[in-house]
Amino acid sequence: MLDLHCKQAQDAKKWSFLHGVNSVHHLKQMVFQQLKSGLPVSDETFDRLYSASVQKIAAFYFTPVEVAKAAAAFLVTAPGKKVLDIGSGAGKFCMVGASCTEGAFTGIEQRQQLHLVASELTAKHQIQNVQFLHSNIIDIRFDQFDAVYFYNAFYENIWSDFMIDQTTETHRDLYFSYSKFVREQLDSMPPGTRLVTYFSFLEEVPASYSLQQSLFDDKLKMWVKEA
Ligand SMILES: C[S@@+](CC[C@H](N)C(=O)[O-])C[C@H]1O[C@@H](n2cnc3c(N)ncnc32)[C@H](O)[C@@H]1O
Repeated sequence: MLDLHCKQAQDAKKWSFLHGVNSVHHLKQMVFQQLKSGLPVSDETFDRLYSASVQKIAAFYFTPVEVAKAAAAFLVTAPGKKVLDIGSGAGKFCMVGASCTEGAFTGIEQRQQLHLVASELTAKHQIQNVQFLHSNIIDIRFDQFDAVYFYNAFYENIWSDFMIDQTTETHRDLYFSYSKFVREQLDSMPPGTRLVTYFSFLEEVPASYSLQQSLFDDKLKMWVKEA
């Protein structure tokens, strides 16, 4: 890990020297350049893009960079494939995915504050192929997308310790109704549709999806819809 940080610091120095820049903005911009070039970026480095208050929740609530890279690589089977992130938080999964693949990522987030953080960061760093919408997922139809990513977004309804903040209504029934909505939307998608779940109880995965691979201690699961 230490080696990785040293390598990143060296790369950062080299890049800044070559490009004649040393501002904080440019160093932050370099995170996306590194992701694009396939160079490793630690979560610590990525999460520094966020303000201190968002950094506090990042480790627990946002997909780690290496997990996001593996998920995005599975979901984007060809340039332009449209990927939906159900509950996009501050946009980490979508931003990493859009930087590492040629997919088009859309993040749906119910918390306005997190939605704004994701949108502002994307605009500031001019990240292409990513958009964020402020909405509850139940108002979104999945048939406009090719592939779906799900990081246990509804868990806060059954375990209050998992709540990011108190700005949304939570209720046990919502966990089941949101999961049912996602399950039905996924079930209505065409054969071959790809789904990745992370830390999920699989309540939202229809029987029509078959498991292809599990990674990261079985927490990341990759699925394909059968006929
Ligand atoms: C565990 S975080 C994952 C964030 C992001 N997908 C990532 O991996 O970086 C789950 C997010 O889902 C959001 N969420 C929960 N229920 C939602 C709903 N019904 N509609 C939209 N967003 C929701 C939460 O506000 C939270 O930001």
